[in-house]
Amino acid sequence: MPAIRIVEVGPRDGLQNEPAIVPLDVKIALVNRLARTGLTHVEAGAFVSPKWVPQMADSAAVLAGLSPVPGVAYPVLVPNLKGLEAAMVAGVAEIAIFGAASEGFSQRNINCSMAESLDRFRPVVAAALDAGLRVRGYVSCVLGCPYDGEIDPARVAFMAASLAAMGCYEISLGDTIGVGTPAKAAAMLRRVVQDVPVDRLALHFHDTYGQAVANILACLDQGVTVMDSAVAGLGGCPYAKGASGNVATEELLYLFEGLGLSTGVDLDEVARIGDWISRELGRPNGSKAGRARLAKLAG
Ligand code: HMG
Ligand code: MG
Repeated sequence: MPAIRIVEVGPRDGLQNEPAIVPLDVKIALVNRLARTGLTHVEAGAFVSPKWVPQMADSAAVLAGLSPVPGVAYPVLVPNLKGLEAAMVAGVAEIAIFGAASEGFSQRNINCSMAESLDRFRPVVAAALDAGLRVRGYVSCVLGCPYDGEIDPARVAFMAASLAAMGCYEISLGDTIGVGTPAKAAAMLRRVVQDVPVDRLALHFHDTYGQAVANILACLDQGVTVMDSAVAGLGGCPYAKGASGNVATEELLYLFEGLGLSTGVDLDEVARIGDWISRELGRPNGSKAGRARLAKLAG
């Protein structure tokens, strides 16, 4: 088993913020290509309100168009029971619910308070588990909120523990706006592991200030082994002003290769996909490691 598991969130977190609707065939090709690189988790879409995030409105069509790779999970975001019903009709095996450690972001992102979100998630998780689905949980704004500013790590721990108690197999800790720094990230994780075992935690760091790799490195010695990232560093949250992309998958693969920690993922192929999707979106490739690896491969 690889030492590190990467959860690729590019097709969801990476695309959800794109202003122009990305063609369905591009979304499908992106997920299909990523799923053939050795990744075991490729987040494929979101069953959220199309009024809130129009880019994700065709997630059912994306799932219907996939050529599933055995052993690969294709989770989708689900905010409520309506989303769960639609996800189940689409045949998903795994969902992710998403809450926040700040009131301001919770209100703007899912239109309810933190406490209300937990009440909303409880029946969603229960019904999903009943139906045999796996459920992952996100906590956003763990290192800062665009509306509420500094976040007390105790609030992060409370939300993470609440989602774990509901039955989420793993809780992904999101630095939604990428404002964290290494000492702060490590301190936040030290507080959370007091309430949630580290083997049920993942890191989901955005890279706004270029600190995501450093933050991940600062957290590694606490034993966390699951990292979320997006090919080519795509991404951002429409309800988090100033949020930039996720840490690039290519950066993480290069980092772990250098540390001698296996991921089971083919960096060269992810770099090619990053180059392709950046061109499709008309954006510069946001991954330095991807660009460097492609330049090296080109000789
Ligand atoms: P609301 O307006 O309070 O919901 O939004 P509502 O229940 O009053 O419904 C409003 C309308 O939406 C209704 O339609 C519903 O039917 C429809 P109308 O009657 O007006 O025609 N609706 C839905 N349609 C499809 N699927 C659904 C659904 N639910 C309601 N599931 C709600 C509340 C949660 C729905 C809304 O706020 C929402 O969809 N928010 C999602 C926002 C989002 O997707 N943000 C990005 C993902 S989070 C993120 O990026 C952070 C993360 O990456 C981690 C990190 O970086 O920190 C995960
Ligand atoms: Mg995110």
